[in-house]
Amino acid sequence: MSHGAEQVLEGQGGSDYERYIRTDELLVLQKGPEEWLHRDELLFTVTHQSSELWLKLAISEVTEALALLRSGRVQPALRLLTRVRMCIGYATIQLDMLEQMTPWDYQQVRKALGHGSGFDSPGFRGIRAVVPELGTAFFAMVDERDLALIDLFTGYEGHEDLYQLAEMLFDIDEAFMAWRDRHFRVVERTIGFNVRGTQGTPVEVIGGLRDRKFFPELWDIRSDLSNLADEIL
Ligand code: HEM
Repeated sequence: MSHGAEQVLEGQGGSDYERYIRTDELLVLQKGPEEWLHRDELLFTVTHQSSELWLKLAISEVTEALALLRSGRVQPALRLLTRVRMCIGYATIQLDMLEQMTPWDYQQVRKALGHGSGFDSPGFRGIRAVVPELGTAFFAMVDERDLALIDLFTGYEGHEDLYQLAEMLFDIDEAFMAWRDRHFRVVERTIGFNVRGTQGTPVEVIGGLRDRKFFPELWDIRSDLSNLADEIL
């Protein structure tokens, strides 16, 4: 391939773009037509692989945000957590693509998956490992400032940074719930409700998991505020 500018990077590929982005390696990570059981395997693989990449970025940003929070730097952590929220949003939007497969075509794709299941997604496993630590870091800061959670929500002057952090954690929790809702509907639409997944889990079970929360205290506080308002307002 010929290019206007001189290429300066080492690596595989004809241009610095291909060498830096590592497109040669990336684009062989999907089966080719000769290996497909069904041509929608490419749609299925691309959707899953790109989710894994967005979650990889999310895990990296959570990890860095945790280090910042542990040294008391809330504002720069918030910038990274905004990215986390966006990563989850992209993973959610991508689920739309799976509904472009007909349910019957998916039955053929499914034959290629063995016991492959989202339960074994490294992205989601990593998320489950690091996201709860955000709650631990947040509550440690609330304690350090001698506050109760309700103080932050009733008169947060002077603690705006922590209030914003609480709401960001809530946003992230909500974003995961939106992913689970959407995933459940896509699954129901594709394989039905009264059936089992590739690892034997009934679809109704993932329906039941939709309300799982990383930070239940941040949800409970809304009810506490309603109760407090009934008492004193
Ligand atoms: C047509 C598309 C899809 C179908 C039919 C499907 C089906 C299922 C089923 C039946 C389960 C329950 C476990 C099992 O027995 O396998 C499950 C769980 C799961 N799937 Fe999917 N899935 C699809 C797409 C995706 C995508 C794109 C992701 C993103 C990586 C994903 C991630 C997960 C995760 C993380 C779980 C564990 C449940 C949870 O943590 O809430 N799935 N899926």
